[in-house]
Amino acid sequence: MIFNRIAITALLAAAATAALADNALPPYLDDSLPAEQRIEDALTRMTLDDKIALIHAQSKFSTPGCPRLGIPEIWMSDGPHGVRVEFDWDEWQSAGWTNDSCTALPALTCLAATFNPELAGQYGNVVGEEARFRKKDIILGPGVNIYRTPLSGRNFEYTGEDPVLASRIVVPYIKGLQQNGVSACMKHFALNNQEHNRDAVNVIVDERALNELYLPAFRAGVTEGGVWAVMGSYNKYKGTYCTHNDTLVNEILKKQWGFDGVFITDWGSAHDTREAALNGLDIEMGSWTNGLTWGKSNAYDDYYMAEPLKRLVRSGEIDEKVVDEKARRVLRLCLRTNMNRQRPWGSMHTPEHLAVAREVAREGIVLLKNEKCFLPLRDGTRIAVIGENAVKSLTKGGGSSELKPRVEISPLQGIRERFGEKNVTFSLGYASGEPNYSNELPSPYDADSLRVAAIETARNADVVIFIGGLNKNYRQDCEGEDRATYDLPFGQNELIAAIREVNPRTAVVIVSGNAVAMPWAEKVPAIVQSWYLGSMGGPALADILSGDVNPSGKLPFSIPVNLTDCAAHAFGESAYPGVDGNVRYEEGLLVGYRWHDTRRIPARYPFGHGLSYTAFRYSDLATDKKEYAPTDTVTVTMTLENKGKVAGAETVQFYAAQKAPRLPRPAKELKGFAKTSLAPGEKKTVTVTIPVADLAYYDDTLRRWIVDDDEFTILAGASSTDIRGKAVFKTSSYSSLADNKRLP
Ligand code: GLC
Repeated sequence: MIFNRIAITALLAAAATAALADNALPPYLDDSLPAEQRIEDALTRMTLDDKIALIHAQSKFSTPGCPRLGIPEIWMSDGPHGVRVEFDWDEWQSAGWTNDSCTALPALTCLAATFNPELAGQYGNVVGEEARFRKKDIILGPGVNIYRTPLSGRNFEYTGEDPVLASRIVVPYIKGLQQNGVSACMKHFALNNQEHNRDAVNVIVDERALNELYLPAFRAGVTEGGVWAVMGSYNKYKGTYCTHNDTLVNEILKKQWGFDGVFITDWGSAHDTREAALNGLDIEMGSWTNGLTWGKSNAYDDYYMAEPLKRLVRSGEIDEKVVDEKARRVLRLCLRTNMNRQRPWGSMHTPEHLAVAREVAREGIVLLKNEKCFLPLRDGTRIAVIGENAVKSLTKGGGSSELKPRVEISPLQGIRERFGEKNVTFSLGYASGEPNYSNELPSPYDADSLRVAAIETARNADVVIFIGGLNKNYRQDCEGEDRATYDLPFGQNELIAAIREVNPRTAVVIVSGNAVAMPWAEKVPAIVQSWYLGSMGGPALADILSGDVNPSGKLPFSIPVNLTDCAAHAFGESAYPGVDGNVRYEEGLLVGYRWHDTRRIPARYPFGHGLSYTAFRYSDLATDKKEYAPTDTVTVTMTLENKGKVAGAETVQFYAAQKAPRLPRPAKELKGFAKTSLAPGEKKTVTVTIPVADLAYYDDTLRRWIVDDDEFTILAGASSTDIRGKAVFKTSSYSSLADNKRLP
């Protein structure tokens, strides 16, 4: 009997195996096979129509995949600070769903101000988990365009003025996000450093600045972060749209950096079928456009990479292999995302996500000034909170990065919860209109009566916390156009002066993604640079104002006294906002602190500046050797001590200055940084390693990276001007491989 049962079981197993063999998965669906083999198998099964469909939009935020073969649609969503609401199929309006709120993380400028790469990884993971749960395959972020002018409407979405800081923040963000099986999409490649005339302006920049300043964060995102998607920018470079620019996309991004992902347009940034086909564009997105003109809804078949491209292939003018390579990259993205059966499931609105949002906000807030320890405020202090940014929702507006947070605790709420309702009064002080992308809508309030009420509130308090700055309205921190002025809007300067008259104990909290003019800076005892802090902004700001958390943020950009002290505004209109469709980056490499240092123009608050409630002592700065070969790495150490009475964290910045460079270089350049937490009285050794290759400059004549045989000084700083130690060493020269390759 037993024998029969064994025989029957064996027969059944054989039958099942045979059945399976007949329905064996085709290779492109068999995830036991190598990805490239699956991709090639899928391509052999696709018609030209299938491949053309794969590489352009079917709706505002999706591409159709290949339904016949079971290759899924690709769904995209903005970022970069959280997952945006659902939109109608082909209208720029919310779809009105009720399950698409998110955890709103602080803006990327705040993340950069933390100088904390590990936290950047947690940030990316939160965005990735929520995107995965919302069934998104690509998050359209992070943005890493360099902060060139404080007027740019989108600096709040980017990571500041320095390429090393931007690189160290963007790489972990990408890895943290993509570990969820969702693709990041680094943007906007390249040179999108202003919003004014963004969809047409031609950027003229020298190759040294391009390679040493504007490209490194993109290169890091590709070569170190392994980003699976990159978005082209609206503007032009060398007279050709960046979205299909042979130099930027074919030569640099794909050939030199080895990018194997998909290169996607910005929405409507494609302008020519042949260029799009031959210059590396892989997916065309857009809306209300047939690629030629605005206003034609559901015109996806008219896109440059749709019927027009199909016609060129059918006529033999474009080889079908060109389309194959685009489809190959899209299929590779699918295997990494929506065809990856191993990817996690994601999650939303978790306490952990809110905790990360709060931690990024806490660590990003920068204490700029704190005379006589005005801050932190003691419990029981009668506080007057004044200013619209204490209550205005700042996750709305700003353009494509707008969010619908499930939680958004305002600064006023946070301060009241921390200090007690009875100790906190409030007055609006000034008011702006609702966010809008084409003009500043009128405020519903009378400015004078707001001012009078605010002055009365200030008069009757121990201290005033003024919470103002910019917002996400038109020509503030908002996509599509730049700020009209460096000054604070809505009459805030006059209001601050009037409040100070009745109560000199007035601290100013600036909420913004950009530097602003601070004519009152010498007259107030404390200034805090806050950011668009997202869901947990209120509790985080209260954490800092109360001293529950010691501020540790450092400025990711310089704050000039006057706009004309900024490099982009020192060369007339041709340098900004441009003339006759061209903008010339006349300052070359000298952006931000590089300009202020080299031209000896002091900033009001310099790059890397940020105070603490404790004091740190720097000592024993040293390098491990006195002379280095080109393939060496410089190991720099120093001792950091907490000399104060409260725990705190300090970001030591390491700048390199070359003694006699063969080509002109900035006075110094950031080459590394380390954030270290210390208990009162605690000492730690801080160590950073700097590959000699990172000391190279780009020779635009030889088109090579060069390290001279020269003397370098490493400067350890609490900011780019507050230098606390120096160490000198020599390097022997090298010239890297041609074509921009870097030494290992
Ligand atoms: C916008 C932005 C881009 C965004 C895209 C989709 O124009 O420039 O950053 O991801 O369109 O909303």
